Amino acid sequence: MTPAYAVPTTRIHSPARDPPRIANPGTSTAAPPPAHETWNSETVSDHVILLSPSANRVYAGNAHQLVAAELEILLGGEVQTEPVTIAAVSYLALPVSELDRRTVTALGALSAFFAAFRRDETNLLPVEITPPDRLDDDLVTIPKYPGKTNEQFTRLLTNVALASMTRTPNGATSILDPLAGRGTTLSTGLILGHDVAGVDGDLKAVEAYAAYLRTYLRRKRLKHTADLTPVRRDGKSIGRRLDVTVTPDGASRPQSLTVFSGDTRQSAALFGKRKFDAVITDAPYGVVHGSQTDVRGVSGKRDRSAAGLISEALPVWAGQLKTGGALGLSWNSLGVTRERLTELATGVGLRPLESGPYLRFAHRVDSSIHRDIFVAVKD
Ligand SMILES: C[S@@+](CC[C@H](N)C(=O)[O-])C[C@H]1O[C@@H](n2cnc3c(N)ncnc32)[C@H](O)[C@@H]1O
Repeated sequence: MTPAYAVPTTRIHSPARDPPRIANPGTSTAAPPPAHETWNSETVSDHVILLSPSANRVYAGNAHQLVAAELEILLGGEVQTEPVTIAAVSYLALPVSELDRRTVTALGALSAFFAAFRRDETNLLPVEITPPDRLDDDLVTIPKYPGKTNEQFTRLLTNVALASMTRTPNGATSILDPLAGRGTTLSTGLILGHDVAGVDGDLKAVEAYAAYLRTYLRRKRLKHTADLTPVRRDGKSIGRRLDVTVTPDGASRPQSLTVFSGDTRQSAALFGKRKFDAVITDAPYGVVHGSQTDVRGVSGKRDRSAAGLISEALPVWAGQLKTGGALGLSWNSLGVTRERLTELATGVGLRPLESGPYLRFAHRVDSSIHRDIFVAVKD
């Protein structure tokens, strides 16, 4: 497999510098890999990370770049990774000799983590990394539907936003996805142990998510409650509200989920005084799924670019953040520029994070979607 990025490796022809092999007692007599394999002679790093095989499909060949930026943010910029190729397999090299607790936690949370190895002169030795997940990841991988945000990418966005908060929540961290669809961000937040809330303009999506959660929680025999109730104003039904609590096995407290059907620009009215540690959302891309565009109700007009919706909704979302909370937004940069988002966020009192790893998330999804991530903090 040829990586789509430039790999800073040097070809070494000396048998004494053969690339290390995966340590496996059952195959310890296997012949060493051929001496022509690529191997980095400049910096012999002490750990390497193998990413999930599907990551390059999700990020159109840019997986190492995106995941390296994610890890840098999770570790507070203290470590720089680089891609290496060992025996024709790509890894991210992590130049630390010991994995401290913080790094182990970050690796476990990482969106595309598959395995980590300590490397010495001749071997790759597996390192046990336990993800922080409270619920199985099939909660987020089972649903398949048009317009679903990829679950690996959602975890990356969630990690980046949560790591950018400047507040330390007193108790459970709360996440709002004000464009929740059928709940990829909400389920990701639950898996990571947080309380979650959402809004979506598509009533059918909220109903489908409610039905899915009910079946899933029952089938997994998890202690839970789930209620889908009408929301009325002035005697008229204006939508529905989903309330779920779930207590993961071994957990001491239930986690909560609340979703309203409704317009995202009404999100503050729907949630009242409740504020959140993070607002994390994947904005509509301005593309058509089936017969509908995914942007709803901008001044009664059909605005395929999502620019109008974001500009009208951002002040509402900013108002729902606690001080020290973070906004993490993924969007289609073919429809709205980063400069415009910066202007909008600054205008509502948010501080955009626009240096180093925060500018390395842009990637192509297809010819009409170039996705990027925008993060801003409420000081
Ligand atoms: C990119 S999708 C998010 C998908 C979601 N992350 C998932 O995986 O299911 C954008 C969502 O925004 C919703 N949406 C668009 N305009 C809206 C509006 N004005 N108010 C509320 N939701 C809206 C759409 O219904 C869609 O579910």
